[in-house]
Amino acid sequence: MKSLQNSFPEDFLWGGAIAANQAEGAYNEDGKGLDISDGFPHGIKHRYDPELVPGQFYPTHEAIDFYHHYKEDLALMQEMGFKVFRTSINWSRIFPNGDDEMPNEKGLQFYDDLFDEMLKRGMQPLVTLSHYETPTNLVKKYGSWRSRKLIGFFAKYCETVFRRYAGKVKYWLTFNEINNMRRMPGAAGGIFFKKGENHQQVVYQASHNMFVANALAIKLCHEIIPDAKIGCMLSLSNVYPHSCRPEDVFETMELRRRSLLYGDIMIRGYYPNYMADIWDKEDVHVEMEPGDEEMMRKYTADYLGFSYYRTTTHEYGTPFYGDTGGDQGTPNPYLKTTPWGWQIDPLGLRFTLNELYDRYQIPLFVVENGLGQIDEPDENGIVHDDYRIDYLRQHLMALRDALRDGVDIMGYTYWGPIDIVSAGTGEMKKRYGFVYVDRDNEGHGTMERRKKDSFAYYQNVIRTNGQEL
Ligand code: BG6
Repeated sequence: MKSLQNSFPEDFLWGGAIAANQAEGAYNEDGKGLDISDGFPHGIKHRYDPELVPGQFYPTHEAIDFYHHYKEDLALMQEMGFKVFRTSINWSRIFPNGDDEMPNEKGLQFYDDLFDEMLKRGMQPLVTLSHYETPTNLVKKYGSWRSRKLIGFFAKYCETVFRRYAGKVKYWLTFNEINNMRRMPGAAGGIFFKKGENHQQVVYQASHNMFVANALAIKLCHEIIPDAKIGCMLSLSNVYPHSCRPEDVFETMELRRRSLLYGDIMIRGYYPNYMADIWDKEDVHVEMEPGDEEMMRKYTADYLGFSYYRTTTHEYGTPFYGDTGGDQGTPNPYLKTTPWGWQIDPLGLRFTLNELYDRYQIPLFVVENGLGQIDEPDENGIVHDDYRIDYLRQHLMALRDALRDGVDIMGYTYWGPIDIVSAGTGEMKKRYGFVYVDRDNEGHGTMERRKKDSFAYYQNVIRTNGQEL
């Protein structure tokens, strides 16, 4: 029997997480091709421009210019004591069109330099292979993950980066929030529907192709970097039944399964029995090739990385929405809400960690959790973000309680340790950082970086390995 875990393990991976497209900027530098994130002027929940509109402001094109500021930014992360730093490789820096014969050397070199810098500063890179960054050309030419051809292109990209960074990167994630194929298939998989299509058919076929690609990536990773761990990544903010009415409870379980099915497949290795009923009701017929299911069964995730921001509730028969924070249903009267309508629920994190560990029995990694708020700098330009400290403290206490519950947790990477562009809305105003970046929604500002009060708080948490929360 596992002994009682009363505190954070010695090797707990403390750190922070960003995504290439929300931070790097330099959207067309050094041979980078366009990727889908380049075409959302107001975030991934809103309009997508298949062709860039002249004169339109696209916030991610410059973002916070991490591409040129990464040394200074990583120095700040080192000052907080980060053991791990999560970012993505933007696929379109490596293969600008997605289907190129040869990779783009300048793109490869950038990530070499970036990972070297992290390692020099004592941080393990945790790398997402695809964080809403499918090359635009693959969308135009092949309809993105609708086509099985994407499996081959993705495998080639994975093999290239595994070989190149084998000595540097030991922690990998395949598709960011792959279960967002259901809520935001444009961002998650480059899927933009055509008139008259059965949306569910397209989503599940594309998801199937991604499952095969995921298995192939795991195979390649283990062969090329035997000491690496590669996980899957899901958006798992939670949903409670709105009441104890059995219909509320049952339908909430069904709804939750629409997310968990992605974990069930990539962790257990096979489609769960309840899929047959979902596909029947939605008139979905997924085409598989011989060998697909065997591949998925054989190459499963080493760990589950997930994002957790909030919870919501579900009432029987009511429509359900979702955004970058997860599913969104009927508000919970017991919880406080951020200006973006996200309900803060630290105990929900403990609940979710327990639920997931009971279900999967593999290590969990909280790879996104954080508070997006409006920060008002004082007359000296300093942000006093007690609300963020409070959010963080309460979520870390919940995480410590989950460790005591017996959950196996590898680490915690706070989302957006430095202010970046919001994925959902494209705003800079929605800030998560411990470090303020002087840039606004319209792209004005000096890009100067300044520590907020939460910087010292998190620094002390890491210094004491979570003893002082
Ligand atoms: C997750 C994404 O959905 O939520 C991130 O993986 C995103 O890319 C984060 O930034 C927070 O969402 P938002 O919309 O506040 O940036």
